[in-house]
Amino acid sequence: MNAAGLHVAIVMDGNGRWATARGLPRRRGHEAGARTVRTTVEAAAALGVEMLTLYAFSSDNWKRPPREVGALLALFRRYLDAERARLRDQGIRLSIVGRRDRIPLSLLATIERAERETAAGTTMHLRVAIDYSARDALIDAARLASGARVTRERFAELLGEVQHGGAARDVDLLIRTGGEHRLSDFLLWECAYAELWFTPRAWPDFNAELLRSALDEFASRDRRFGALPDAAAS
Ligand code: FPP
Repeated sequence: MNAAGLHVAIVMDGNGRWATARGLPRRRGHEAGARTVRTTVEAAAALGVEMLTLYAFSSDNWKRPPREVGALLALFRRYLDAERARLRDQGIRLSIVGRRDRIPLSLLATIERAERETAAGTTMHLRVAIDYSARDALIDAARLASGARVTRERFAELLGEVQHGGAARDVDLLIRTGGEHRLSDFLLWECAYAELWFTPRAWPDFNAELLRSALDEFASRDRRFGALPDAAAS
């Protein structure tokens, strides 16, 4: 499967249940999930994916117990510190998407450093959504747009301004692990015509083979964007 030019987005769900099923604390599920992030990023880049957006922490995830939130934020920091040189060497540009005003300063500094050091990457654009809410981003962009005559293209640019990580770009394929079938406030604008692919596998058990299966199925789908297939249009 050649995934050249595609924007793939992933809701990485099921870390907690994966850990609980093994008698482990939930944070161990997130740690296993971070290892899957690394292998998935490499697999996606090898397959030619142009943009990969991963949902790591939603704005609603602040409602989780402080201990879990703290463990996740610490994990993001460790991941960025450990991976930024590897990402740079692989030509992968990293951006964090979402609000930045509630992120602890130490993590923010790590984010900015990783973004700076990988900014020249052209192989793949990896976007990690942290403190992200699609609905909040839409409200913020609408505020900027008010009064002006706004096209879809201009609105996508405004979304990029409010949520960082570049102008909003249509998602081609949205993958969700962990068995749930919902979007959970992720990339609502960008997923207007996304193909959706779900697996019951928990995120720590996701792998390159499953990514290829998702992309193979994507390639067999008939994407019409509201139009008719060629044969029916004549
Ligand atoms: C959802 O699983 C997952 C999260 C809220 C966190 C996602 C974080 C990672 C995959 C860890 C590392 C990420 C990076 C970028 C280094 P859940 O905890 O809601 O699982 P559950 O539904 O089984 O409880």
